[in-house]
Amino acid sequence: MADLVQLRRSGAPQPPETTQADPSAPAVYLETFGCQMNAADSALISGQLGRGGYRAVQDPAEADVILINTCAIREKAEDRVWGRTSQLLKHRADNPDLVIGITGCMAEHLKDKVAARAPYISLVAGPDSYRSIAELVDRARGGESVVDVKLDKEEVYDELDPHADDDGVSGFVTIQRGCDKFCTFCVVPYTRGRERGVAPREVLRHARVLAERGYKEVVLLGQTVNSYVYEDVDFAALLKTVAQIDGIERIRFTSPYPVDFSPRVIEVMATEPKVCPQVHLPLQSGSDVMLQSMRRGYSRQQFIDLVGALREAVPHLALSTDLMVGFCGETDEDHAQTLSAMREVRFDSAFMFKYSDRGITYASRKLVDDVPPEVKGARLRDVIELQEEHTHASHNAQVGKTVDALILGTSKRGDKTLACAPTYHKVLLPLGAGEPGDLVRATISGTTGHSLLAL
Ligand code: 5AD
Repeated sequence: MADLVQLRRSGAPQPPETTQADPSAPAVYLETFGCQMNAADSALISGQLGRGGYRAVQDPAEADVILINTCAIREKAEDRVWGRTSQLLKHRADNPDLVIGITGCMAEHLKDKVAARAPYISLVAGPDSYRSIAELVDRARGGESVVDVKLDKEEVYDELDPHADDDGVSGFVTIQRGCDKFCTFCVVPYTRGRERGVAPREVLRHARVLAERGYKEVVLLGQTVNSYVYEDVDFAALLKTVAQIDGIERIRFTSPYPVDFSPRVIEVMATEPKVCPQVHLPLQSGSDVMLQSMRRGYSRQQFIDLVGALREAVPHLALSTDLMVGFCGETDEDHAQTLSAMREVRFDSAFMFKYSDRGITYASRKLVDDVPPEVKGARLRDVIELQEEHTHASHNAQVGKTVDALILGTSKRGDKTLACAPTYHKVLLPLGAGEPGDLVRATISGTTGHSLLAL
């Protein structure tokens, strides 16, 4: 998953405002760190704030309230949030009443540290507090120091209308919240609470709203999205139902958990044309010893067999992964196993991390973070170097292929049309190749480091 989600406004159709943007309404600047789930949560927060009488601004200098939707997954993500909040503090010079608050995963995890580390933060709201976020912000603006980090076993934000600041073409639909896996390195079950599925009727309602607003793609979100279950509806059944929505042309989901990839889900991927041939399947390590101590629930071979089954069922499948080096007790041999698993699978792309102790997890309490920082650094360089080779090869293999590219908007530099292939590769087309939301046939003519070119 991307580390820092850039929420763009592009030329794409925007969802209608949930409230009339009254210029005298107090202004909120909301910045999002972390995974797609956090981006989807920011849309929830924006929707609730809009209904609560606030208006969104894109410039922190104009804000009466600055909210940072935080990520606690790795130490680096957390450091970045502290750095950013202290930077944003400068806006207090022009507006002494400016409220600065944090929401999201750091809230629960760091509520006690906020007072010492960032006393200027007067609002801390956890992932299950967004229904009443406007009220919490009201209280903080009234001078109170507000902390609401209670996790709620039931909250799935039924019946709310998220207000996403996205491209208007590809939209997130959260289908599951929390996590029950308790991988030994991971803070998520502690910051987001226990796993709960969103009712299928609510998932469908949300996806239909997106379709009505002109979105062409939905991305179903959950921490372990394919373990989704609600009464007698499992993930495979849900996928099939979402595929029936008129107007939605493409469906993706992230992130599946390897153990929960049922043959039924693979079959739906193989037979339902709207489900994109793309899977983000976190491996973490290629060593059975590490996988066991991470409590991932699968062996290296089981993962490789699953990849084989997916690739057999879904031709041209693009496969990405997460890899973590330097977990507690990781030896040179374990590391070599990760590199060899990468060679065996040949992921099309990967997010790669150094393990960092999150203070509350099983690993933090019971295992020793004993791989020296310089060894973690060297191992990370090894995996990045190998992955770059595989990513380049994967990009080059696309050259000459014709793909259906979904136009998202204009490229960052403004000189190309930005689109997305079914495999999730970004495709750059000439300006004027079509309008956001159009599906165009594109023949790949070349590659850059991160994108395919169809010029
Ligand atoms: N340290 C480093 N990386 C981590 N991840 C999760 N927890 C940690 C941690 N404590 C990585 C995993 C996960 C991704 C979202 O973040 O690779 O799949």
